Formats: sequence, C-alpha cells, structure tokens
Amino acid sequence: MFCYWIKFIKFAIIYAPLEQVVWTTYKHYNKLTEMKILLTGGAGFIGSHTLIELTEAGHEAVVVDNLDNSSPISLKRVAKIIGKEVPFYKVDIRDREGLQKVFDEHKFDACIHFAGLKAVGESCAKPLEYYENNMNGTFVLVDVMRKNGCKNMIFSSSATVYGDPAIIPITEECPKGHCTNPYGQTKSMLEEVLMDVQKADNEWNIVLLRYFNPIGAHKSGTIGENPNGIPNNLMPYITQTAVGKRAELGVFGNDYDTHDGTGVRDYIHVVDLARAHVAALKAIVENKGIAIYNIGTGHGYSVLDVVKAFEKANGVPVPYAIKPRRPGDIATCYCNPAKAEAELGWKAQFGIEDMCRDSWNWQKNNPNGFEE
Ligand code: NAD
Ligand code: WQD
Repeated sequence: MFCYWIKFIKFAIIYAPLEQVVWTTYKHYNKLTEMKILLTGGAGFIGSHTLIELTEAGHEAVVVDNLDNSSPISLKRVAKIIGKEVPFYKVDIRDREGLQKVFDEHKFDACIHFAGLKAVGESCAKPLEYYENNMNGTFVLVDVMRKNGCKNMIFSSSATVYGDPAIIPITEECPKGHCTNPYGQTKSMLEEVLMDVQKADNEWNIVLLRYFNPIGAHKSGTIGENPNGIPNNLMPYITQTAVGKRAELGVFGNDYDTHDGTGVRDYIHVVDLARAHVAALKAIVENKGIAIYNIGTGHGYSVLDVVKAFEKANGVPVPYAIKPRRPGDIATCYCNPAKAEAELGWKAQFGIEDMCRDSWNWQKNNPNGFEE
C-alpha cells in the first residue's frame, strides 16, 4: 500500500505540470471557444442571428441595444433556440454611463458592433440624426472600450463604401467610392475613424466586415428581418407582396447594363453572414491589427432572378411591375470573397433558393413581425 502511494505521488509530481501544459496549450488553441463578446445592436436582424452562431460556437455574449429598431421578443426567441437567456441591457451606446455600467459587470474580450441606424432613404431625410447616432455612438463605444482595456472590435461595414465599384467582382483592394447617402457616408467615415484609432494604438485589432446584401432568416422561422413601414430593401418587399401585404413589387429599372436589365446584387444568407463574425474572431486572435473582408457569396443575381428563385423555392407568385430607376442605385455589385476564405476559413454555404425559402418561412409564420 505504502509503495502504491509513493508511486502515485511520484506520478503526480512528474505528470501534473505536464497536464497543466497540455491544458494551457489546449486553452490557447481553443481561445476561439472562450471569448466573451459584447454585441451592440444584438437584438436586430443580423445581431440576433449572430448571437445564435456565437453561442453555438461556445462563446459567451452580452447584448446592448436601445431597441430603436428591434423588439425584445427577438431575444426571447433566440433564448428558445439556444436554450438559455443571454444578458441584455437596454442601453443606448451614446450613453457613456450606461455603457460603463455594462463594462463594470462584464470583462469583454471583444465587441461586435452592429448598433446603428441603417435605412438609406430615412438617412437622406434625417441626415443629422444618422450622423449623430452612428458616428457619436461609435465614438462613445470605442472610448469606453479602451478605458476598460477592451481593444478588439468587429465592425459592421457595408458594400456601400465601394460606391459604384471600380472593379467587378469587388475585391478588398477596390478603391472606396462615393456614397450617395448619409447612411453610407457614416459607414465609410467610421471605417476611416477606426483605422486611425488602430494606427494610433496598435493594441487595437479592428475587423471591418463589408457585408453585401443580407437576406434569409434562421431555419426555425422564429427570427428574421422586420422593417418598419414600407420596406426599402428587395427581399422584405418580395415577402410582403407574397403574403398579400403589398399589391405588387416595383422593379426599379430594367434598362441597366446587366443580363436582363435589372440591378444585380450579391445576396447572402444572414446565417452565413452571422457565421462570418464567428470566423472573424480569428483575425483578432491572430492580432491582425486592421483587417478588411468582403462578406458575400461572389454570385450576382438580378432583381428578376431573385423573383424567379423565390417563386420556384416557395411555389408562391410575386406579381411585379417595371418602374423607373431608383435614384442612387447602381447596376451591378458583387464581390470576390476569396480573402475571407483564405484568411478566416469562411465561405458562404447557402444558395439563393435557401435564402428565398428561409425569408418566406419567417414572413409567412410572422406576417406582423415580432407582434405576439
Ligand atoms: P437592425 O436595425 O436590425 O439592427 C441594428 C440594431 O441596432 C437595432 O436593434 C437597433 O435598435 C440598434 N441600435 C441603433 N442605434 C443604437 C444605439 N444608438 N444604441 C444602441 N442600439 C442601437 O439592422 P441590421 O440589419 O441587423 O444591421 C446591423 C448592422 O449591419 C448595422 O450597423 C447596419 O448598418 C449594418 N449593415 C446592414 C446591412 C443590411 O442590409 N441589413 C448591410 C450592411 C451593413
Ligand atoms: C437591391 C436591388 C434595387 C427594392 C441597400 C443599401 C446598402 C445595404 C443593403 C446597408 C436593387 C432593387 C429594391 C424594390 C427593386 N444596406 N429593388 N424594388 O440597394 O443593393 O443596398 O441595402 O448597408 O447600403 O444601399 O439593396 O435590397 O434595396 O435593392 O427593384 O422594391 O433590388 O433597385 O437593384 P441595395 P436593396
């Protein structure tokens, strides 16, 4: 018996540190599964989907949202999907004290910054409100983050920063272009601000994700895009037409230099987009400083292609009429997403029919959005 204990103690002395090394190495390589992340705007369309993908990948998330353009019901539905409640603070990111209280209660590894106003048309009518919310909100957030030693951010940028793109398919090297509306300007200007912040202090890691056109919804059909009033974007207009809320879809122009004359875009499933955020944490772990990625599928579909794909996927007609071009629209916008695949290991998995099926599944089950 005595011999046994001597052997055991010798074993523990020799192997315990080894085990510790193995455990530390394991933790290091799996740092991705251990991050605590602040999601600003996490109750919104893209934020709520990202919340699911982040928690399913093993991360811990905390949501801050002022609910200006979202419903707390989306978070309840996310909780049902992931099987647990996520801490939520109804705080405006311009409210420095409110934000500090959140940081007092949590130590974050990174922030995924979705919070912002996003309606192009409204931004032309209310430029000051858009500049104030999006710019000032980000200034306060970044300042509070650095004061609390959290210097890692993934920022929701947009393909809109390319303006009328100089290169198709658009690579990240494509020069930025002229944005025709205040919303787009805030994205472009915030990219510059964040790059300057990182240049001045290289402890920061900032990932700029330039989203193309997010559509679709979670497969449960319980969360999705819920625009206020008459939708500006194509897919919500299609789904509201299909469900009978709108008489017909107006197709804005059929005289563009595209295969059928209607505008071509790179539609991406919101779940693929959400997963791109999980993948983008790699750029933070690798201390990349500034990293910019196009997040799209690399395929361009015209308005009429989307209408046909929707009808085929769902067996529901979408009446439409050709209307004049919409001011500020461009003919073609789709990306080359190779950089995200090479550096982050991320690639879109869903096709246009999946996107149409899931958008419809959300709309038909929730004709009035999050109203219960
Ligand atoms: P969304 O409106 O559904 O979500 C944004 C969330 O931010 C909302 O829940 C809103 O209540 C919240 N918010 C706004 N201002 C806030 C503030 N001052 N403080 C706290 N919360 C605030 O929009 P989304 O489609 O999920 O977009 C998320 C982000 O991605 C936005 O920054 C948007 O500009 C950007 N983006 C969206 C698209 C798109 O087509 N949906 C494309 C490119 C980029
Ligand atoms: C797509 C195509 C329209 C509605 C906008 C923002 C961009 C980004 C995504 C946030 C175009 C046509 C549309 C309709 C139509 N958002 N269309 N009838 O304009 O590519 O991008 O949303 O960052 O910044 O500008 O998207 O969905 O509005 O339009 O014919 O009722 O559908 O002309 O060709 P867009 P969209």
